[in-house]
Amino acid sequence: MEFLWEFLFTPLSTSGLVFLFSLAAIALLHLNTRPKPLRPPSDLNRQSIGIAGGARKAALMNDDNLMSYLHEDAKTLYEVFQRGLRVSGNGSCLGYRKKGQPYQWLKYKQVSDRAEYLGSGLIHRGLKPSQESFIGIFAQNRPEWIISELACYAYSMVAVPLYDTLGPEALVFIINRAKISTVLCDKQDKAETLLANSEKNLTPVLKTIILMDPFDAALTERGSKIEVDVLSLKDVEALGKNNHQKPVPPKPEDLSIICFTSGTTGDPKGAMLTHENVVSDAAGVVKVFESVFIPVPSDVSISFLPLAHMFERVVQTVLYGAGGRVGFFQGNIALLPDDMKALQPTVFPVVPRLLNRIYDKIQSGAKTPFKKSLLNFAIERKHAEVKQGIIRNDSIWDKLIFQKVQASLGGRVRVIVTGAAPISPSVLSFLRASLGCQIFEAYGQTECTAACSFSMPGDWTAGHVGIPIPCNTVKLVDVEEMNYFASNGEGEVCVKGKNVFRGYLNDPERTAEALDKDGWLHTGDIGKWLPSGVLKIIDRKKNIFKLAQGEYIAPEKIENVYIRSAPVAQIFVHGDSLQSCLVGIVVPDPEVLLGFAKKLGVKGSIAELCKNQDVKKAIISDLVKLGCEAGLKSFEQVKDLYLHPEMFTIENGLLTPTLKAKRADLTKYFKVQIDSLYVNM
Ligand SMILES: *[C@@H]1O[C@H](CO)[C@@H](O)[C@H](O)[C@H]1NC(C)=O
Ligand SMILES: *[C@@H]1O[C@H](CO)[C@@H](O)[C@H](O)[C@H]1NC(C)=O
Repeated sequence: MEFLWEFLFTPLSTSGLVFLFSLAAIALLHLNTRPKPLRPPSDLNRQSIGIAGGARKAALMNDDNLMSYLHEDAKTLYEVFQRGLRVSGNGSCLGYRKKGQPYQWLKYKQVSDRAEYLGSGLIHRGLKPSQESFIGIFAQNRPEWIISELACYAYSMVAVPLYDTLGPEALVFIINRAKISTVLCDKQDKAETLLANSEKNLTPVLKTIILMDPFDAALTERGSKIEVDVLSLKDVEALGKNNHQKPVPPKPEDLSIICFTSGTTGDPKGAMLTHENVVSDAAGVVKVFESVFIPVPSDVSISFLPLAHMFERVVQTVLYGAGGRVGFFQGNIALLPDDMKALQPTVFPVVPRLLNRIYDKIQSGAKTPFKKSLLNFAIERKHAEVKQGIIRNDSIWDKLIFQKVQASLGGRVRVIVTGAAPISPSVLSFLRASLGCQIFEAYGQTECTAACSFSMPGDWTAGHVGIPIPCNTVKLVDVEEMNYFASNGEGEVCVKGKNVFRGYLNDPERTAEALDKDGWLHTGDIGKWLPSGVLKIIDRKKNIFKLAQGEYIAPEKIENVYIRSAPVAQIFVHGDSLQSCLVGIVVPDPEVLLGFAKKLGVKGSIAELCKNQDVKKAIISDLVKLGCEAGLKSFEQVKDLYLHPEMFTIENGLLTPTLKAKRADLTKYFKVQIDSLYVNM
């Protein structure tokens, strides 16, 4: 993103200090005129309260009933959209743009009509308007994605998002596991991938491919040879318009979507989510922030996070239920800043990676010591306000320093929601001060739709994931082997409520691992209740192993410490019960590594530096130093490293699509290197 720090670029002259002092004086005067703090609706000392069986729920609910929906007339995703149509008075709904052009909008009624036409077209072609029909959606975020999804919902069919990063084998697996006979896809190349699988007879269930973009006529011919119909979305909509079917709306307990996620091992798992699951999750989130933000038809969200993930789906559900608008990015993340400026979103869902980028940009904009101290001063002033519950974008510091970055997000952002991965508390606090809007952190997983906890307005402390949202309760369960006990307020986070999924599609074994007989979802995360009643995620249950002498090791905890080392871009810590110590694989950050090595008097290409013993030793000692500071025990420190010049990526199979390390695959991939590290000890 492009930030112009004209103000910070004023050269420091002798008048610089005088200038700084006058600024401080203006700011002090300004303090007297600042607005009244926003307080959270409930006493911060008890944001969540205990109920039966050691579970807790949000203190903001007055009765014991868990929330299923916000509005009596919107209990399914179908009804949520119809409500949006009503409350917006057929307002703008889905926006899209071409490069350099303004957004164009489809109205609610147009979207709803097209969804009915598409659904009718599918039914006319032989699909049943029932829960037996699973429809694949294989596309980047765009209006047709939503139209396809709504076409399913209007006729009680089930949507199954497909996506590239799952890998080609996963695509075949999902189509077969969910018995998908019809896939709606955006581009010709995706259709070609599907056809190639059909030609190899890998997906005999697949009978119809419907394309959103124009395509070559040859594709239809290619399909006809193997009895797969290739049609255009336009034609199927036209077919449905001429053969219109009355909607067959779903019930809240019906399935809406099967959301496949790839685990770190094994085949993808298809989380079965009902209409109630998704609607209640969105309702729970809205209920938490309603004291500071009630979405209205003029609200608009930018859609660029994958729709195949539930985080983005829940954000959009919130918008549609309020009659709000969703504008899609052009499909290229590099053009997102331009889309932001054109759309001027008020709701900005993000992942921590993106917030980190914004943070880095602001920091690197202040190049000289003077500019740095000015920035820090401004952050401190704003942060002092944030701590009192004042979130605003019109202070003197906003006008002088932060307006540029706020404008680069379109200038109208009211709410940022971050989720899908943890965000560093210091980054979160910094951005709350500089962006001048509400920033909420959500925590959860696909199996509880998306969020199960959410930060509460007015509690702007960082380093926790807020309170249970009102559609679920949360309890912590003993994990003896890691020394976490519920009696100490620590344990595995377990979730029960309206948003908890129905299990994995046709996979009773893994369903039983995730859902216990009483309906509690076991997340695998270790949580801790803080005194104010908020939940903090402190560890991960999986990936625990014992070293030879019997000490338990949680490698991810160690990696989270080591990753702070400047020359380290990625790290994988390995050990097992046959070894008495840990070793690590480090992928160095190429930009930092050159300078790091230069200080040691070592020069060379990245590959050469990776082989250099002095560089390696220096990195090890930096890691050990960080480890000591973070309180790692000596057996938790790595004894040796292998430096690897290539990043772990989704493409090379070492990361999951959610960018988590595939530990088993990493161990296999680096077996030779790991073995030789141990041999040479
Ligand atoms: C909704 O708006 C669209 C676009 O302006 C218009 O074509 C359509 O007739 C409207 N429908 C209703 C029911 O108002
Ligand atoms: C400040 O925030 C409000 C919405 O909360 C928005 O309307 C306004 O444009 C923002 N101002 C700037 C300078 O970003």
